[in-house]
Parts: sequence; structure tokens; C-alpha cells
Amino acid sequence: MVAKHAALDRLREALLSWYRIEARDLPWRATRDPYAVWVSEIMLQQTRVETVLAYYDRFLKRFPTVESLAAASLDEVLKAWEGLGYYRRARNLHRAAGGIVEHHAGRIPRSVSELRALPGIGAYTAGAIASIAFGREAPALDGNIIRVLSRLFRVSGDPQRAATRDALLEIATGLVKPGNAGQVNQALMDLGARLCRPRSPRCASCPAASSCAAHKHGEEALYPQRPRRKAIPLVHVVAGIVWDREPQESGAKLLIAKRHEDDMLGGLWEFPGGRIEDGESHEEALARELCEELGIEVEIGECFMELDHAYTHFRVSLYVYECRHTHGRPRAIDCADWAWVLPEDLDGYAFPVADRRILDRLVAS
Ligand code: ADE
Repeated sequence: MVAKHAALDRLREALLSWYRIEARDLPWRATRDPYAVWVSEIMLQQTRVETVLAYYDRFLKRFPTVESLAAASLDEVLKAWEGLGYYRRARNLHRAAGGIVEHHAGRIPRSVSELRALPGIGAYTAGAIASIAFGREAPALDGNIIRVLSRLFRVSGDPQRAATRDALLEIATGLVKPGNAGQVNQALMDLGARLCRPRSPRCASCPAASSCAAHKHGEEALYPQRPRRKAIPLVHVVAGIVWDREPQESGAKLLIAKRHEDDMLGGLWEFPGGRIEDGESHEEALARELCEELGIEVEIGECFMELDHAYTHFRVSLYVYECRHTHGRPRAIDCADWAWVLPEDLDGYAFPVADRRILDRLVAS
């Protein structure tokens, strides 16, 4: 499928006229500082604009330059990222900052290929940064833009497949021109977020409806052509709030463990525990996990709370038990680190959202 030049020119003009009036007023659009654009694009990977807005300014205040980010510890960066999710992004951002200071004299690289060589930057993010911060003629295909272009041009096939992607990339490349590539890409993003939504698209308000092939055929809902999603598995996990003495005694501390850096949620702290194997009781699973992970024994008390949490690829049901440490000095056998912490000091550590919910309940109890 080859889109004609004239059709692309008309579409580009329609998008830009609409964007001049309707562009969302977002803080990363008020700057051309490539560092700020980079941070915004990393935060916006897999995260909604509304959520990112609560983090972006604070993060830039805390780490205003690539040098300040590179000089910070990973723990500090994870703490600033706490709650935003997909923590690999924070680890990559931190690593990339070190690389930029060391190999690029602290300047964010301008070309798509150099940007792609940095950790955490794939084709989409490289295209977004190169076009928005440097005006480079680079396409950027994210989920929103894929949906918009698939509908506008009735691109058939699963966008995960190379042939479909190539067809979309060809269209996206034909749309960006030097000098306005950043605006074209962001106009497509806004169109996807505000009008050309997955369900119930608002075609009546769309500046491109008259040239939209899917709209013409009443087939908006059929594009993009994605295969059905598989059901998301549910795992059952048990965790311990392990006290070093009776919790009401003064100076009582509780034990937290740090996840391995390469694991999901790596580098974050958590209440120790793990997956309940088939046929195990909660208590058996918790005793086994605490022994395997930290080499300790505990007395397991009452169930403190149960909670459900949905991650991207699976859901967890988490069962949390209060415990009293009885034997064995903790050792980092199957975790990156551990610490005995006073409840009032827990705020200094970065936790996954599910563990934060436990902490909130602990503080309230
Ligand atoms: N999603 C990813 N990048 C974005 C941007 N620059 N503006 C709005 N939404 C986005």
C-alpha cells in the first residue's frame, strides 16, 4: 500500500492546522531542552499523560540536567520514579545519563541512530526525541499513531508483524517533513489520544475524517487489525511483615528486601515473600520463601491484609502476614539486599505500588 504524495500533503496540512489550535498544553511542549524532552518521552512510554503530569516537573526539579541525573544514585532515581511503574525505564534513564555524560560530553545525541544506541530508547522514542527536540525528519510509531494511520489508510494486518509495520512506517515517514516533524508526530499523538480513540472514535470532530479510508467504509472499529489478547494469568503471592520484636515495643523494626536489578520491579524494596506453589498453604509458602530468600525463620501470625494488583502481563493476589523473626541473621541469598527499618523510615525507600498499599495500611493501623 503506497500512499500518494498529494494525499499525504493534504493530510499533513489538515493535521498541522488542527494542531495549531487544538494541541494539548503539556509542560514538555513548552521547552526544546532535549534532556527534558527525553525524560518526558521515557515517562510517556506505557504511561498515560495524566499520570506523567504528576511526576514530570518534580523529576526535573530533582534532576534538572543530564549531569545531575548521572551523578545521582540509582536508589535516588528509583525513589523519584516510585509509583510511575515500569521501573526498568528509570534504571535505563540513569544508565543512559551516565553514557551521555561520558561519551557525548553531556549532550543528548541528535540522530535517531545515536539515540537508539542508548539504553531504553527504541525506534519510537528515538523518532519522538529526534523530531520534537531537534526537528529531525523522523517518524514515531506508538500505539496511538499506529491506530490513527491504520484507520486513515486501512492498513491491513497485525501491526506487530514486520510487513504491517513497514507499511505504517512508510506512511509515517511520508508525513514528516524537515521543520515540522515534531508537530506532525505530536498532532498524530493528540489525534489518537483525543479523537481517534480505540472505542467510539469522535470522527465528527476529526480534521482528517474526509480522507479517512476506514471512516469512508464505516470500518473504524476494524483497524488496527490486532489478534485477540490472551487471558492474563493470576498468580498467588504471600509476603511477610517481619518484625524483629513485638511491633508495639519501642524501636521495633521490620524487614524489607531489595529485588534483584534484572527482575521485574528490579531495584525496588518489598516485603519479602514469593509465589505460593501448588498444594502449599500460605504459611508453608511464606516459611519456605523467607528461608530461600533470606535464610531466616519466623513465627507466622495473623493475615494482615489481602490485596489484588494488576501488572501488565499478570495479576497478583497478595496475602500479607504479620511475622516475628525467630532465627537466623538475614542474608541476601535470593535478593539484592535487605534492611531492618523503623516504620517511620520506610518512606525513604522505593516500593512497588502493591507494597505501598501495605505500607499505607500499616501506617493507618
Ligand atoms: N505520548 C508520547 N509522547 C508524547 C508527547 N510528546 N505528547 C503527548 N503524548 C505523548
